[in-house]
Amino acid sequence: MEFLATTSFAMEGVLKNELTLLGFEVERTTPGLCLFCADLDALVWANASLRSAERVFLVLGRWEAKSFDALFDGIMRLPLEDVLPSNGRFHVNARSFKSQLFSLRDIQSITKKAVAERLGRAYKMKILPEDGIDYPLMLRMERDEAMLLLDTSGEPLHKRGYRVSGHIAPIRENIGASLILLSRWFGKGPFIDPMCGSGTLAIEAAMIATNRPPGLERDFLFEKWGILDPLKAQEIRDIMRSRITPANTVIQGYDKDPKAIRKARKNAASFGLDSLIHFQCRDLEEFSTSLRRGTIVTNMPYGERMGTRQEMIELNHLFDRQILQLDTFRLGVLSGDAYFSQAKSRKPTRVRKFNNGKIITYFYQYEPVARR
Ligand SMILES: C[S@@+](CC[C@H](N)C(=O)[O-])C[C@H]1O[C@@H](n2cnc3c(N)ncnc32)[C@H](O)[C@@H]1O
Repeated sequence: MEFLATTSFAMEGVLKNELTLLGFEVERTTPGLCLFCADLDALVWANASLRSAERVFLVLGRWEAKSFDALFDGIMRLPLEDVLPSNGRFHVNARSFKSQLFSLRDIQSITKKAVAERLGRAYKMKILPEDGIDYPLMLRMERDEAMLLLDTSGEPLHKRGYRVSGHIAPIRENIGASLILLSRWFGKGPFIDPMCGSGTLAIEAAMIATNRPPGLERDFLFEKWGILDPLKAQEIRDIMRSRITPANTVIQGYDKDPKAIRKARKNAASFGLDSLIHFQCRDLEEFSTSLRRGTIVTNMPYGERMGTRQEMIELNHLFDRQILQLDTFRLGVLSGDAYFSQAKSRKPTRVRKFNNGKIITYFYQYEPVARR
């Protein structure tokens, strides 16, 4: 069987590594997604374990479609009734990249028509009632290849379930985890977020450190369909639980805002991770550490909501004095400022540009430059 996992553009390398570590064969990696082969158990393994993914789709079919007729005929050839019941609710989404078929509305309506036609014939029904469970479909065109996908996740995978308390400008959980993994922090050695807000990065780090799958305790849409034996799903979740290890490292989160720290503690506690993370209200101005080395990953305030341009400049100077001076630490800084690394004491080893929601952001990575 083929599956397709999506992530943010620029995070597909992280996703590919995660899939490979889970033992799946990755067939194709393109911006924002990986196509991989696996058996049905992957519904649980991939949905519950992937830290960087946004959704996991089952590939119902893929074929070349340079015309709407080819799109329609391709769907008609798929044995959709093997997966889709007669009373399912089929909402169709569409995406198109570098393809002759690009009108999303037309792709959606042709897909819907063809799915209804195929299922109507298979179930010998003129009209499908569509009064049952959701089966969200996606028709994805890329370079004239059509892929009919079935969303198995339901709620996007960044919704782990620990965010009981929101905060201004929190980072999406799967992007946070991707940034940590991009920083090559895999749970060993100290981890610090000096501007932790509601604690996303520290909480994701705590889950990495304990080998806890981020989606272990949440539900996924496929569980409503009965396509995987619930006992099998339970068995896989039990294996995952048995592989959780005690954390053997220091994880710290600081913020100048006491409300943010209260929220971070609440969020961590909702997943039983509060004892693993030291959260403390502290301004960057007072930041110091006795740790000799470690990894710092943080998300600078950005956008109008997070302060004036002058405040940003001052914070950038403060960051330079307090964090970039820690030359034995590996650093990862997410910022909306294209000039963040200019006029600073330490130069990034790598800068990655990517869209965080609708905002263009830059991830500045710094390798340690000294050993102690
Ligand atoms: C973009 S938010 C971080 C969001 C966080 N990653 C999350 O997921 O909730 C930036 C945080 O920096 C904090 N901050 C701004 N200036 C600071 C300073 N001088 N010292 C410490 N924290 C600061 C803000 O209070 C805010 O919570």
